[in-house]
Amino acid sequence: MTLHSTPKSALADELLAHTGRFTNKTFDWEAFPSNIGFPELERAQMRYIGAGGSPKVGDNTTLKPDHFTLSLIYKKPGKYAACHSHEIEESFLIIDGTLIVGWEKDGEVVEVNLGPKDMILNAREIGHGFRVDGVEPVLMSISVDVGKPLPPVYHYHPKEHAPELARSFGAEPGKTLPFDPDGSHPLQKLMAQYVVRHANLPTIWEDAGFTRKVYVGPGAIESDTCRKEMLGVPSRVGVQPFVRDVEDAFLVLEGSLTLGWEENGDVTEVELGPRDLVKTPAGRPHWFRNNGAGAATVWYVIGSQGMETVSYKAA
Ligand SMILES: [Fe+2]
Repeated sequence: MTLHSTPKSALADELLAHTGRFTNKTFDWEAFPSNIGFPELERAQMRYIGAGGSPKVGDNTTLKPDHFTLSLIYKKPGKYAACHSHEIEESFLIIDGTLIVGWEKDGEVVEVNLGPKDMILNAREIGHGFRVDGVEPVLMSISVDVGKPLPPVYHYHPKEHAPELARSFGAEPGKTLPFDPDGSHPLQKLMAQYVVRHANLPTIWEDAGFTRKVYVGPGAIESDTCRKEMLGVPSRVGVQPFVRDVEDAFLVLEGSLTLGWEENGDVTEVELGPRDLVKTPAGRPHWFRNNGAGAATVWYVIGSQGMETVSYKAA
């Protein structure tokens, strides 16, 4: 048997240009200028689609955003992010570790502890911060919608507030409440609508042979921007080509997944491993298949908020 290379098509080049490889990327420790000079705030960002909350919009290693951005954030134990707000929705999906997220209003804070595969959608204009109290560093995926990327408004930044107050997101001692979906405080009730526990989400078995858990979308957290789902794709399961009228992105969390594109009879595919991503533009026929022996877990973001329009067919 001889190894030979097949000539690459324009479609193959385009698919590669829409692929974000974890090993081709680097974490940027200086993505957030407001953290500079405050070692307790340090965090690293790896950009896949757009710049997220970073002003580094000129980075040409990241894919152009349409309706959402996607990045990874890495934060070590003991570090935190100061309480701030913005005019866009922003989701935190925990990949590794446990993360405390606090929401603040009028000096009171509700804190939730999120574990792997849990998610929070930070509502517009709500003061929010986060902190790593656990023993492991946190890796999470952050997505924001790209409408009006204004800089965040800081509510309790350590340059203006005492370090203890900034670390507690603005709560004086005794003013922090635990997350409680049955709690009576209005901030507890509000946050309960935006927190997703992976284990509490229904598992939907598609006829095509894979699972979906809907995090954001009709029937789950309502949003007017994007849908977000977690897919479980067993070994040797795949779907036939489908088309959306918006972009979508697959970020593999565990296992491997092969993504394919089709155009005028030309076909190309790429295999993704953990923390690899493909963004598929609107209108492109695409499909996925797990050629591996183990199941794949995949974070799936779709650039519209409406009901699902795709009916998956087993390949
Ligand atoms: Fe934020």
